[in-house]
Amino acid sequence: MYQIPTFECDNKPEAIAILTSGGDSPGMNPAIRGVVRAALHHGIKVYGVHKGYSGLIIGDLQEMNSASVTNIVQRGGTILKSDRCLAFKDPEVRYQAAEILKEKGIDSLVVIGGDGSLTGAHLLAAENDIRVIGLPGTIDNDIYGTDDTIGFDTAVNTALDAIDKIRDTALSHESLFLVEVMGRNSGFIATHVGIACGAEMIVVPEYEVQIESICFQLASNREQGKGSSGIIVVAEGQTPGLTYSLATQLKQHNQSAKVCILGHIQRGGSPTGHDRVLASCLGASAVDYLCAGYNDVMIGVKNGQIVDTPLKQVIEKGKQLDEALFERALLLHK
Ligand code: F6P
Repeated sequence: MYQIPTFECDNKPEAIAILTSGGDSPGMNPAIRGVVRAALHHGIKVYGVHKGYSGLIIGDLQEMNSASVTNIVQRGGTILKSDRCLAFKDPEVRYQAAEILKEKGIDSLVVIGGDGSLTGAHLLAAENDIRVIGLPGTIDNDIYGTDDTIGFDTAVNTALDAIDKIRDTALSHESLFLVEVMGRNSGFIATHVGIACGAEMIVVPEYEVQIESICFQLASNREQGKGSSGIIVVAEGQTPGLTYSLATQLKQHNQSAKVCILGHIQRGGSPTGHDRVLASCLGASAVDYLCAGYNDVMIGVKNGQIVDTPLKQVIEKGKQLDEALFERALLLHK
């Protein structure tokens, strides 16, 4: 469980707004609930912003009460809705957003999202008189300053559930499947899913893989009596169609493979217990940090402890895939 820091509440915000931004992730709802319930506990007014920064810049926000977040802890998606807002890259637009908040008497904002959303959060805080706390909400788990992001565990389990089913048919037909999971820039989902489903191979954007080494691995499996069925987990990477192109290359090496793209199924569904607890704790802690006077930081979890990291660092550093874990995955294929 998490070690949660306690603070004096000597910098209580006037009112807090919350928004969810970027690709949604299972657990955003319990995070919203955590913020709302903790704010109300401290007697702070709380507002939900509709559709991320797109709603903020047009002042689309509503006051929330305890009933606004009843029966949402188990629901996937985000009751506040989400968006990727390109206009928020403009400092003038961010200034207008800050003015809208101030006009409504709101001095603090909690942003739940991935790296793009946290970049917007940092810039808003750095340029304007609004206190901002970021929470890591993305299935990708690629955020510096936290071991775990809201939604990652659910996405891994959703992919696993699908792959276990694919494994059944792969075994029945002695087929090889290339299963594509999400992760445009990072192989966290692919590595965790690959280990947990006993994949024959994992392909991630961080490491180049030669088609010959995949063929070698598959031939070695056959020689060891493991049969010719298998699952290769492929992170989608930057180039659309990567998995189909891998299948074509395998075909050229006389190895046929079926492609299965899991896609946005990984972003939906009821959050796991793990994600619900993580999100609830981070949401409530965001309010504690605001009350203690923090600004321009992300609240995450490191070694079981709730911690803060300056948003500037979160954005600049970026989290790398754990090399040792990937090496372990490679060892497990053999
Ligand atoms: O939210 C992160 C993510 O799920 C990535 O893994 C994926 O590449 C991307 O979003 C897809 O987003 P969209 O559907 O908005 O293009």
